[in-house]
Amino acid sequence: MKILVTRTLPSFIISKLEAAAAVDVFTGGGSIPADELRTRIADADALVCLLTETIDRVTIDTAPLLKVIANVAVGYNNIDVAYARQRGVVVTNTPDVLTDAVADFTWALILAITRRVSEGERLLRRGAWTGWAFDQLLGSALAGKQLGIVGFGRIGQAVAVRASGFGMRVAYASRHELAADEPGRGTSWERMSVDQLLNTSDVISLHVPLSPETKHLIDKRALARMKRSAFLINTARGPVVDEEALAWALEQHLIAGAALDVYEHEPAVHPGLLGLDNVVLVPHLGSATTETRTAMASLAADNVLAVLSGRPALTPVA
Ligand code: DGY
Repeated sequence: MKILVTRTLPSFIISKLEAAAAVDVFTGGGSIPADELRTRIADADALVCLLTETIDRVTIDTAPLLKVIANVAVGYNNIDVAYARQRGVVVTNTPDVLTDAVADFTWALILAITRRVSEGERLLRRGAWTGWAFDQLLGSALAGKQLGIVGFGRIGQAVAVRASGFGMRVAYASRHELAADEPGRGTSWERMSVDQLLNTSDVISLHVPLSPETKHLIDKRALARMKRSAFLINTARGPVVDEEALAWALEQHLIAGAALDVYEHEPAVHPGLLGLDNVVLVPHLGSATTETRTAMASLAADNVLAVLSGRPALTPVA
């Protein structure tokens, strides 16, 4: 059997896979080119891939022996899951192991934009800091304000748990009522419609998966609903926000600011955002801790090993 791994992963993970099959690792750096992926997947029984690889119908059809696609990410919008299912290929993701890392990072962005951290650093580095000033780079306080969370799965709820440390009220928009074992059950967190949440929140954080329903969920109309003093945070998927509309809203000061970890056309960033001071821009770092990335890769490998040995996958996508 053969396992194709599209990126260099920690050696103990490759060794774990090698115990079960021949392992072909793409070591070219960056994303494996689509034609090379199709050549190397042709005789593979399993694929370990990243969110930067598009696993479409043509790629799946190129691999008649393929039994499992293990994405090293919780999101799986890069994979044609419906077609894989139709072809009998199991698709897995890496939930839970990255929840805390992404929730922590969401808070890093909330604090960075509301307290103007990047702006201050840019000022200092260009030598423009002339000393402490009473009214320099004043930010916005968080205590007593409302954090609105759109999408209330594991990560959204972990962001909400952290809000109490900052004295914020939590509102959330979700298609589902919270189950009995979820952290929000019995708290004062308030469920509301997306529109109501946009109208009333001071900080809005996005935690929905990317789907046809959530693409451009935050468009011109949604941005116009937000308070002029509100901040938008996106650590979910870039296309959930219409970047062109966001650049316009920030430029016009229709909202106070935004902090983005993800972009519509990664690694490109809308040029209208790059020159603005009221947006924090970071390069898709939400799950980027050594511990978390190792746990993600390890879970992906365990999913492959389970399927190849005839056991159910640990974390198949629904
Ligand atoms: C994911 O797992 O979907 C994240 O975007 C990776 O950081």
